[in-house]
Order: sequence, then structure tokens, then C-alpha cells
Amino acid sequence: MRFLVFFILIGVYKCAPEGHLWNYESEGPDFWKEEFLNCKGQKQSPIDITKEYLEYDSNLKPINFGNYDKVSNWNISHNGHTVVVSNIKNDQFTIDGSDFDENFNLLQFHFHWGYNKYHGSEHLIDGEKFPLEMHLVHKSKNGTFTVLGFLFTISEENNPGLDSLLEGVSVARDKGHWQNKTFSLAAMLPESNTLNYYRYLGSLTTPPCTEGVIWNVFSTYINISSEQLTSFRHNVLRLNFRDPQKIYNRQIFTSFPVEGSDKLRSRGGPNQPCVMQNGSQKSKHIILQNGILPILFYIFYLFKLF
Ligand SMILES: *[C@@H]1O[C@H](CO)[C@@H](O)[C@H](O)[C@H]1NC(C)=O
Ligand SMILES: *[C@@H]1O[C@H](CO)[C@@H](O)[C@H](O)[C@H]1NC(C)=O
Ligand SMILES: *[C@@H]1O[C@H](CO)[C@@H](O)[C@H](O)[C@H]1NC(C)=O
Ligand SMILES: *[C@@H]1O[C@H](CO)[C@@H](O)[C@H](O)[C@H]1NC(C)=O
Repeated sequence: MRFLVFFILIGVYKCAPEGHLWNYESEGPDFWKEEFLNCKGQKQSPIDITKEYLEYDSNLKPINFGNYDKVSNWNISHNGHTVVVSNIKNDQFTIDGSDFDENFNLLQFHFHWGYNKYHGSEHLIDGEKFPLEMHLVHKSKNGTFTVLGFLFTISEENNPGLDSLLEGVSVARDKGHWQNKTFSLAAMLPESNTLNYYRYLGSLTTPPCTEGVIWNVFSTYINISSEQLTSFRHNVLRLNFRDPQKIYNRQIFTSFPVEGSDKLRSRGGPNQPCVMQNGSQKSKHIILQNGILPILFYIFYLFKLF
């Protein structure tokens, strides 16, 4: 009988560890909408970046990458939802420029991919899907998040700038696997310090889907060959992207003049960054699932039963 209680308690804990509250399968994006309040918001990411919503904003200066060319050591690991890369040596990588009134420090970068090379990206450009997307997540001292989104496109030739990274990706195929790799961020990114980008206000693309994130999706893509893309094929996750969300009354701004769009935005529009709200809004259901209460109920129930 005590054994039974013990095993059932183990079962309860096993069913509700952090990493299993959501996924891309039975607890996928439609489940998130019901279980995490933010995921139903009107400023969600990703989106389909379509021409009709574009507006040139001359305040969007080039983004400056600080220290991105430094060769450093990176921990490429799997967190159960994606392959995530963080710096081992506590080196600081910052961005400024654009219309930012503060500096942002890189926290980590991670990837979204699909079953095959015809999908996998989270953002779409005019309905077009890409095989892979990389998100470099930055945060300011004030707690504002800004993400740099890079889309990948299939090239015939291998992109040697990705080699070290992809070796690590092949190893980090499941939770608990990681590898220490040495490379510079600049080696992965397109060559140019004046990259054009799309800007809009959105959210984290995974639960808790917190809004107030300043998105910068670059219009220059990164080459990756089909063969290189297979580094993601052996991953325990076969797919990990969220579909585009409704745009509602948002606008997408561009750092470059757009053909067919004669709109030019004036300062003080809806493009002001929001400060990240603290704390994730989990639904009652999730809190209960994690709390001690259900376990007490279980024990109570079992003792009464036997
Ligand atoms: C790399 O990340 C994994 C997962 O978080 C962690 O277990 C491991 O200790 C890290 N390794 C280093 C060298 O930081
Ligand atoms: C940080 O936030 C405070 C309070 O919201 C604001 O007054 C200040 O201007 C912000 N700092 C920067 C650099 O944006
Ligand atoms: C990307 O690949 C295309 C062909 O697939 C090639 O023309 C182009 O030069 C490559 N770009 C870079 C930056 O290597
Ligand atoms: C990571 O790899 C580099 C280069 O091989 C090595 O110098 C460094 O000590 C390693 N760091 C850790 C934490 O394993």
C-alpha cells in the first residue's frame, strides 16, 4: 500500500515536470492558447510579413553588433524545446543603433525547424516559408526584450560559417546532450554591417508567449545547404515552429524603402517598445498541476480508498 502511494506520487511528478507543460504535439500551439493566457493576445509572434502591412521608418538605423566578431566558446545544448546556444565564458555581446534608446545584451540564441526543407521557419515573408530560423534573444537592463530573427535559405554550396555550430547541433539532439564549440557569431551572419530588417512589436513564440518583444527580422537570408540542414534531422524534435499569428491592428516597419509603399511613418507611432511585464501568466490548470494540492488530494483519496 505504501509502495502504491509512492509509485503514484512518482507518477504525478513525472507527468508535470517543467519541460513537459507544453510541446509541439498534443500540448502544441492550439493547447497553448487555452492554457497560457498571453498566447491568445493581439500582439503575438510569429507573423507573416506581408507587403500590405509594410511601412518605411527612416528612424530605423542600422543595428550595430558589438563584439559579434569575437571568437568565443559556446555551449550548444537541448532544452527540450529547441537547440539553444549560450556563451560559456561570460563574454558580452551587445546590440545598439536602430531606434533603440538603450543597449541590449545577448542572452542566448536558438533555432526553429521542420520535417523537411520546405518549412521550419516561424516568420513567413509574403507567405513564403523558410527551412530554418534563428532567434538571437537580447535583453536590456530595463528588462525589455528584443530578438534578431534570421531566416535561412537553401543554397547549393555548404556555408562554412555554420560548420562548428552544426557539429554542435548534431550532438545536442536530445535533452541532456551538449557540446562546447568555438566560433564567432559574425561567421554565421550575412556579411554586412548595414543589414536591412523588418520591425514589429510581438511576443515570445513559445509559452508563456509574453508580449512587449521588439522584433527585428532581417531581409537578408543565411545560406544553408540541404546537406547541412540534416544536422537537425536526427533531433528528437522533428518540428518546433509556431504558425503565423493574426496581425490585428499592428503595422510592420522597414529599415529600407519598400517598393509600392509610399507610406513614411512619423515619430511616436505604435512602434514604441513596451517594457516586458514580469512573471509568466500561467493558467490555474498549470499551477494546480504543479502544486502540492493535487498530491495531497491523491494521498487523501488513496487512504480513504484502502
Ligand atoms: C551546457 O549546458 C548544459 C545544459 O544547460 C549544462 O548541463 C552544461 O553544464 C553546460 N556546460 C557548460 C560547459 O556550461
Ligand atoms: C528604463 O525604464 C525607466 C522606467 O520605465 C525609464 O524612465 C528609462 O528611461 C528607461 N531607460 C532607458 C535607457 O530606456
Ligand atoms: C548563397 O548561395 C547562392 C547560390 O545557392 C550563391 O549565389 C550566393 O553567393 C551565396 N551567398 C553567400 C553569401 O555565400
Ligand atoms: C571549451 O572548449 C575550449 C576550446 O577547446 C576550451 O579551451 C575550454 O576550456 C572549454 N570550456 C569548457 C567549459 O569545457
